[in-house]
Amino acid sequence: MKNKVKIAVLVSGGGTNLQALIDAVNKGIIKNGEISVVISNNSSAFALERAKNNGIEGLTILKKDFADQLAFEQKIKDVIKERGVELIVLAGFMSILSENFTREFSNRIINVHPSLIPSFCGKGYYGLKVHEEALKKGVKVTGATVHFVNEIPDGGEIIMQKAVKVRDNDTPEILQRRVMEQAEWKILPQSVEKICKKIIKEK
Ligand code: GAR
Repeated sequence: MKNKVKIAVLVSGGGTNLQALIDAVNKGIIKNGEISVVISNNSSAFALERAKNNGIEGLTILKKDFADQLAFEQKIKDVIKERGVELIVLAGFMSILSENFTREFSNRIINVHPSLIPSFCGKGYYGLKVHEEALKKGVKVTGATVHFVNEIPDGGEIIMQKAVKVRDNDTPEILQRRVMEQAEWKILPQSVEKICKKIIKEK
């Protein structure tokens, strides 16, 4: 068997999607990829604990430690290249990557977003805010999307989507949890496996 695809997971917070990826590797749902490094732009992200508990290298790279976005992204690039990473997964990474970065890794960066794109997405739509807006609008169905990352926030090609029902009396927090359980934690690992398989085939 050819070498597994090395994956970098970029995180900012709790890291439940990272956990779903770790579990999927352990269960053999992800067969063609392995998580080589977890990069956080927040030093107190619980995702770093999850990496540590699973023997995965975890690094904190803070924007404030660099002169500008370009220098911050250059550091991420250096880490990724040193480790031979071929797929970058944004799993709750709350920072928008510049065109300079996304162009260099075209079709090699994927993101999970907690709505059915093109609804409730783009600049300013992240985390709980997405679910608040969905409830405000009164949609009866929401869900999650995994997509390639390009220069347009949440604008890249869609890889997978899964719908989730909105219930009466949902709060943003309750809806967020349901979308994670029923959609994100399923389609993110499935998408990662799909892309890793494709990368290996193309080698
Ligand atoms: C997830 O719901 C993810 O879809 C969302 O943030 C949460 C992170 O949770 N991402 C975005 O909104 C990106 N636009 P996690 O840290 O527990 O995986």
